[in-house]
Order: sequence, then C-alpha cells, then structure tokens
Amino acid sequence: MSVSRELPRITLLATGGTIAGAHMAGGGYAAAALSAEALLAAVPGLAELATIQVEQVARIGSPDMDDAVWRKLAERAQAALDDPAVTGVVITHGTDTMEETAYFLNLVLKTDKPVVLVGAMRPATVISADGPINLYNAVAVAAAPVARGRGVLVVANDEIHFAREVAKTNTTQVGTFKSPNRGLAGLVNRGRLHFFGPTVRRHTQTSEFAPLSAAPLPRVDIIYGHAGMRRDLIDAAVAAGAQGLVVAGVGAGNLPAGALAACAEAVQRGVVVVRSSRTGGGVVERNVEIDDDRVGFLVAEELNPQKARVLLMLGLAHNLPAAALQERFELY
Ligand code: SIN
Repeated sequence: MSVSRELPRITLLATGGTIAGAHMAGGGYAAAALSAEALLAAVPGLAELATIQVEQVARIGSPDMDDAVWRKLAERAQAALDDPAVTGVVITHGTDTMEETAYFLNLVLKTDKPVVLVGAMRPATVISADGPINLYNAVAVAAAPVARGRGVLVVANDEIHFAREVAKTNTTQVGTFKSPNRGLAGLVNRGRLHFFGPTVRRHTQTSEFAPLSAAPLPRVDIIYGHAGMRRDLIDAAVAAGAQGLVVAGVGAGNLPAGALAACAEAVQRGVVVVRSSRTGGGVVERNVEIDDDRVGFLVAEELNPQKARVLLMLGLAHNLPAAALQERFELY
C-alpha cells in the first residue's frame, strides 16, 4: 500500500549570482543571467523533495549586494517564515558576499525554521556546474525538521556551514567555503543530512536584532591593515561620515603606530572602532599588544572584518553604547 504524504513547502528567494550565471564567448560569464525558474528546472528530483514557491527578490551579482537588498530580502524571508504552511526558506545568492548576507539574516530573522543560502562557483551553463547539486542539497536541508533552530545556514559542495562561521576562502574552487574557527555544521550527501554540534552563539529566535527594525543602518567602513600603512584612509573614512570603523588588522588585529593614533582620534570624535584580523582565523583579544581600555577600541573576537561590520551596523542602529557593543561581540 502506498501512503501519500504532503511535501514540505519551501519558499525560494532568488537574488542572482554565479549559480544563475551564463558563460559568454571568450571565457567570461554574466552573473544573474538566468531566472529562478530556469535554475529549478535544471535540478532532477527536486519535485519529489518539496513544493517550491519562487520569488525573484533581486537579479544581481553579489558584489552589488547592499543594505537596501538586505532589507528587502529580510522582509520577504520573514513574511515567508511567518506563514505556518512554509517549512523553510532557500535563498540563491552569489558566493562573493554570501557570508555577510547569511550573518545579517542570522541576526535579523525571527524564526526557528531553516533558512539556507546557496550559491555556486561555476556558472549554470558550463561543464560540471555545481549549482544543481548545491540547490538540491539546500532544498533538502531547508525541508528537514532536524535543521530547525540552527540559525541561518550556507550549503555548498556537500557541506553545511553556520552563518557565523562560514567564509569564502578561494577565488574559484568549488570547495571555497570554510568555517575556520569552529568547523562545519554538517554534511549533506545528495539530500541525506548529517548534522554535527549546534552553533554556539545567539541567532534568529534569541537575537535582539530580530525582527529587523526600520532604523537605518549607519555607515561602517572596513580599513585594511598592511606593512607601511598610513593614517590617511582612516581619516578619510571619518571625514566621509563613518560612524563605525572595522580594522582588518595585521596578525591579532594590530596596526602601525600612525594608524593606531588615527583610530584613537576617531574614537575621541565618537566613531566606534573595532579591531579584527586580516588573517582569516583565530581570536582578536582585548588588551594584548594594544591597550584597548586606554584608547577605547572594541575587539571583534572571532568575527572576520566583514561580519564584524554587520554586527557593528546593527548594534549602532540599536544605539548601543560602546560597552554594550563589546558584549555583543561576545554573544553573537
Ligand atoms: C557573485 O558573488 O555574484 C559572483 C561570484 C559567485 O557567485 O560565485
């Protein structure tokens, strides 16, 4: 006797990226060339996994992702998640800034349903495109009860990553995503899920930033540290109106003396300065080589510069004072 069961319902929000890219004569490709419907049509077996409702939220390469698209994406995702009939949400997205969007949504969506970002390193129309298997796996994760309560996830290359941990680490290879500090959330082998430990920090249901408020996100710039660095770009960011600066410092978030002096002056002018690291792994701790207490800097702990920027923007939008902001880098 065959028992018919109702399929999970997934909302797919499409934004573009290489997963929707088409190659062009000469070897290049155009991101976001294909519609979401075309992407789904290229994935055998999806119809047996879930009923999928599609919405094209944007049609961009993810270098063009910005606050306005983030806000629209958060609103559309929250609306879908608030629908009791929806099991989970999948978001197709370029890989370049996927980690930032994933972390932003991890902090601003009020839900315990699965939310999965998925992309591809190869355009949809080339040999061995990775988009179809990534999309199949993303839908399988979003449809799975075991994926609930884990915050926003990124699925690619048969791996499941937590939004807080994941980073793009390679320009072209399909195994570009890594979670350097705390490792994978799990694996997904053609729709079969294997979750490892839970994520360690607050997200979604327990985030004070969820649901997303109407308060505008303030300008926060990232300044990259290097040998021979001068103070000019720090001064320029402050003059341009940045309310926060994230320093991608050398090593454990360090900067040469002139740049440090410029950052200390920025703090005196009311700008929040967060030290993070350009190394791609490890923790930036307070008061080791730099006396943060004396000059008034914050540290990003494990967050990479681009994720520290997201958290700082949300904290500043909520008018949190410096001490409370530092606490948030320990909580999220
Ligand atoms: C993009 O981020 O839109 C381009 C690169 C990619 O999707 O892999």
